[in-house]
Amino acid sequence: MTPLIEVRGLHFQYEDGTKALDGVDFTLDPGETVALFGANGSGKTTFVLHLNGILRGQGDITVCGMPLGKETLPAVRSKIGMVFQDSDEQLFMPTVLDDVAFGPLNLGSTPHQAIHLAEAALDQVGMQHASGKAPYHLSAGEKKRVALAGVLAMNPEILVLDEPNTFLDPPGQSNLVHLLKSLPQAKLIITHDTHFAAALATRAVFFEKGKLVAEGPVDEIVQRFNWRYSALPADLRYSAQRRF
Ligand SMILES: Nc1ncnc2c1ncn2[C@@H]1O[C@H](COP(=O)(O)OP(=O)(O)OP(=O)(O)O)[C@@H](O)[C@H]1O
Ligand SMILES: [Mg+2]
Repeated sequence: MTPLIEVRGLHFQYEDGTKALDGVDFTLDPGETVALFGANGSGKTTFVLHLNGILRGQGDITVCGMPLGKETLPAVRSKIGMVFQDSDEQLFMPTVLDDVAFGPLNLGSTPHQAIHLAEAALDQVGMQHASGKAPYHLSAGEKKRVALAGVLAMNPEILVLDEPNTFLDPPGQSNLVHLLKSLPQAKLIITHDTHFAAALATRAVFFEKGKLVAEGPVDEIVQRFNWRYSALPADLRYSAQRRF
């Protein structure tokens, strides 16, 4: 079985000297959904930004059998759909519909097809009602949904999602789990939400200081790194109850 993503010995340093990746090896196989855990600043976002060539470090990256390089970049970008951690980096067209249609248009769809795909994707994320709005007027959760629609409209082979459930309301989070579960693509999902990860992922990996230091079943990784939301201390719970 050819891996969908293969990364070997990836190193990256930002211009200010921050060593963000310090020798990462990673494989994503067809059918997998991998949760990517790790502390703030451990290198998760930096890592995924390498997968479609937004950042370039030292090391080897192969996507769907193509070594990532200048010539393969457009093809690689059509295979990997990426939802960024910051939606504002993703949404730039005058209307929501234009924004979601931009990807399919870019990949060669006719305007008619692109609009059709965009409407279907907006429907999938519950945002069709906002198709005429300016993306920068949307709420944070709405922006996340539209950014996801933009990726779904391109029907990529791999989904890379950087904290996709941040800002989503509770029903929106459940809907996202159902939606992602229903999609056939392999997925790499960065999240701090261990319940969200447990509901979706077939495996978890853990980043520490620019290194991938562990991998295994989600529960095992969560336990090993004590990676659960800590309960509020009893005295704070008490005062919270009294206030409301
Ligand atoms: N543009 C940049 N210039 C300099 N340093 C950066 C830049 N972007 C990120 N870093 C640094 O690189 C390291 C890794 O950052 P990264 O954003 O990849 O972390 P992360 O694991 O995604 O964290 P979070 O959970 O907070 O999203 C951090 O030390 C961060 O301060
Ligand atoms: Mg990040």
